[in-house]
Amino acid sequence: MERRQFGSTKREVAVIGQGTWYIESGGRASAVAALSRGLDLGMTHIDTAEMYGAAEELVAEAIDGRRDEVFLVSKVLPHHASRHGTIVACDGSLSRLKTDRLDCYLLHWRGNYPLEETFEAFQQLQRDGKILSWGVSNFDAPDLEEARQIVGDGPLVCNQVLYHLQERAIEHGVMPWCEQHGAAVVGYAPFGHGEFPGPRTKGGRVLQEIAEAHNVTPRQVALRFLLRRPLTFTIPKASSPEHAEENAGAGDLRLTEAELARIDAAFPLGPRPRALPQL
Ligand SMILES: NC(=O)c1ccc[n+]([C@@H]2O[C@H](COP(=O)([O-])OP(=O)(O)OC[C@H]3O[C@@H](n4cnc5c(N)ncnc54)[C@H](OP(=O)(O)O)[C@@H]3O)[C@@H](O)[C@H]2O)c1
Repeated sequence: MERRQFGSTKREVAVIGQGTWYIESGGRASAVAALSRGLDLGMTHIDTAEMYGAAEELVAEAIDGRRDEVFLVSKVLPHHASRHGTIVACDGSLSRLKTDRLDCYLLHWRGNYPLEETFEAFQQLQRDGKILSWGVSNFDAPDLEEARQIVGDGPLVCNQVLYHLQERAIEHGVMPWCEQHGAAVVGYAPFGHGEFPGPRTKGGRVLQEIAEAHNVTPRQVALRFLLRRPLTFTIPKASSPEHAEENAGAGDLRLTEAELARIDAAFPLGPRPRALPQL
């Protein structure tokens, strides 16, 4: 599994991680087995959130005895993200995850509390050793710039944002901002939250042809395309060990420039949106 430096942290993190939203949909045992198999195969970046119901407790089970292997990320809900509420929310996540620290803690999306308050709480949590780094999610370029005006370059290590073949809007402004300021881009819903292009679609056929040339699957080709820029990571969610295995299989795949160009043409970037779309 290829690893990359995660923003300004000194950590080398797996380019393909594991999402956990609705991971329990196929049953708890299957979800825990999927996460464990993913860890075995190097997908050691695990993304969860206080919002994801029982997911944090399920992650605790999957990482039991192997905490040090994992780059563990959770998120505070915007309506909890006051100076005090963020600390309380983080303590809740740590307790459900049965750990003493998060590797990264994110503001899930921008809410009504001033960013200054949330960031002060993140810095406090960092001083207390409860989080090792922090970042944001669903921030558009102007939000990121506002955050930088508050804390400067460096402390904000990542922005977790929607990114899949049919939704490439972050390439207009968010990605260039992150590249300029050294923040990691963690793309979520890489399979379009279950809307992956089928084999009978024009784009699906392109993925299939490239997959056949490498003896891999169209999903593996898609994951690799989403990782073609240097600071990017991706966090597909798999509820079964078989799906986790397939996703991990893209970890060392390499596509040629010509193949990347074919995918780019089959799933065009589209016009610059007015605001960052969210799920
Ligand atoms: N920050 C945010 O606001 C935000 C928002 C959305 C998501 N996220 C994070 O990003 C993660 C991923 O996004 P997502 O869960 O929305 O969507 P996703 O990863 O794009 O898609 C998940 C769907 O793809 C299927 N799948 C996964 N691997 C597969 C494979 N190898 N073969 C066939 N099907 C496969 C899953 O099926 P099975 O479940 O049956 O395996 C599930 O139906 C989330 O779990 C969450 O951690 C963050």
